[in-house]
Amino acid sequence: MRQSLVIANWKLNGDLNLVSQMVQCFSQDSAADYATDVVICPPAPYLSALHAESLACAEDAVNVKVGAQNCSEYTQGAYTGEIAASMLRETGCEYVILGHSERRTLFSEDDSLIAKKLKAAQQAELTVVLCVGESLTERENNHTIEVVTAQLAAALDGADFSRLVIAYEPVWAIGTGKTASPQQAQAVHQEIRQYLSQLSKDKGAKVPLLYGGSVKADNAEVLFAQTDIDGGLIGGASLEADQFRAICRAVKG
Ligand code: PGA
Repeated sequence: MRQSLVIANWKLNGDLNLVSQMVQCFSQDSAADYATDVVICPPAPYLSALHAESLACAEDAVNVKVGAQNCSEYTQGAYTGEIAASMLRETGCEYVILGHSERRTLFSEDDSLIAKKLKAAQQAELTVVLCVGESLTERENNHTIEVVTAQLAAALDGADFSRLVIAYEPVWAIGTGKTASPQQAQAVHQEIRQYLSQLSKDKGAKVPLLYGGSVKADNAEVLFAQTDIDGGLIGGASLEADQFRAICRAVKG
């Protein structure tokens, strides 16, 4: 059975108050009522607080796991402003998002840099949430599968498939309110699943595949019900505790 995951990507949003609100919201629920693991990726300064607050919750409550939104390809040295994967691990992070389209476009991260970061993160025992996805023009020109497979091929050479999650996020659906239809998302997820199985016969089929791009409480359930969709990567809707909680509960066992 594959792991289900719902991951909050706060981007450059949130504060310590939101960290507490989220943990409190989930701590009222029993883990037994959730068919998914819940991960929150706040901005780096809030990682330790999230980890500490989450640890303080009751044992049978939903344990919110901690993830980062980026890491350095370097392990240490004179790289002002960078954060090494091992440092994230020390703050309690288990996950790191890499290859998000905002990093690719706004911060010029290319496939080769993403591949280096992925290796550094996995070496530090983080599970990488690798984002892939096509632009609107690429979709309109029928290049979706080609683009997504090329992004996977470039990042996954030598990767450890047991520390990997793939998030399919069509760029045209991120923060736009336009969600891929469940059928569109499922079709791409199925191709990704097949491709991963070719790369690694035993582990490829077990990699969790998440959909991201304008997931909200009212469209999550039908998306997550698709055969090859194992959960979601949630941006805007992860900034409100009640809505994010509802999205997590839309994963059915
Ligand atoms: P969105 O963002 O849910 O606001 O579309 C998703 C993401 O960027 O991961």
